[in-house]
Amino acid sequence: MSEAVRTWRILDILKVTEAAFTEKGIKNPRLNAELLLAETTGDSRFNLYLNFEKPLTQMEVSDYREKVKRRLKYEPLQFILGKAGFYGMEFKVTPNVLIPRQETEILVEKVLEYIKGNCASAPKILEIGTGSGCISAAIAANCECGITAIDISADAIAVAKENAALNNIEGKAEYLTRDFFDNALTFAGYDIIVSNPPYISAADIPGLNEEVNAYEPYIALTDNADGLSFYKRIFELYNSAQIKPVVFLEIGDGKKESIIRLLEEYRITDSSIHNDLINLPRVLEINNKKIK
Ligand SMILES: C[S@@+](CC[C@H](N)C(=O)[O-])C[C@H]1O[C@@H](n2cnc3c(N)ncnc32)[C@H](O)[C@@H]1O
Repeated sequence: MSEAVRTWRILDILKVTEAAFTEKGIKNPRLNAELLLAETTGDSRFNLYLNFEKPLTQMEVSDYREKVKRRLKYEPLQFILGKAGFYGMEFKVTPNVLIPRQETEILVEKVLEYIKGNCASAPKILEIGTGSGCISAAIAANCECGITAIDISADAIAVAKENAALNNIEGKAEYLTRDFFDNALTFAGYDIIVSNPPYISAADIPGLNEEVNAYEPYIALTDNADGLSFYKRIFELYNSAQIKPVVFLEIGDGKKESIIRLLEEYRITDSSIHNDLINLPRVLEINNKKIK
């Protein structure tokens, strides 16, 4: 005789999942459980609360279980959902792109602040290492501009293009598969350079949280060296540019001192560092147009 199949109510399945996530040390266990269930049933989280007593179909239960199993192996929530929020917008994410981080929003903020205060006409912007395209899309959605966004990963560029379409900014940005270290690349013709480069040193990768180092693309995390290669190349190109662009770069935790040393080495003086919302140094701005 076959065993009766258990009927799961929303409330009960959420409780069980929350306990399993807690045991595995997953942060925000209840929120994770709710978001995965909401994605499974196609409901909003609010509706889950209104329907706590509702039984799930067998199909929903098995679909949800698959998602929970992936999360228990520390796969990031955003990869399971296939999407992530950034700057109030929604982006498709796949394992080929870095998951947009909240701390990167300040980089967008600083670029927009500069454009709104200084650009009489639409500036030409180069984004280095666009990944999901979140930075370019957030800038383009909020000002008049023309963006060239490059990435060495063709898979990332494909996702960035989809995200441009999703967010209706296609006309303002072009996406190119290109190696930033290609000798032919210069800053000529660009008013603004923006980048959140791979800045973690190769030596620090094994010590990262498993959610990051086992799932996010290695080339999005590190330059496979000391984490400073992109800054060095950007400073070189900046120094050799006849007309200097304004540069905005994300900087990693604990990297401020090495960035300041590099700026000295490259004799770049027109720089300032902006802190993020939790007061950590996060954005390097190089701007020789500021009135001193
Ligand atoms: C830290 S991720 C940033 C992604 C995205 N801009 C963001 O902020 O979420 C760095 C990006 O640089 C790209 N990248 C790595 N090496 C590169 C290279 N040599 N030339 C161009 N892009 C590169 C990676 O593929 C990755 O998408």
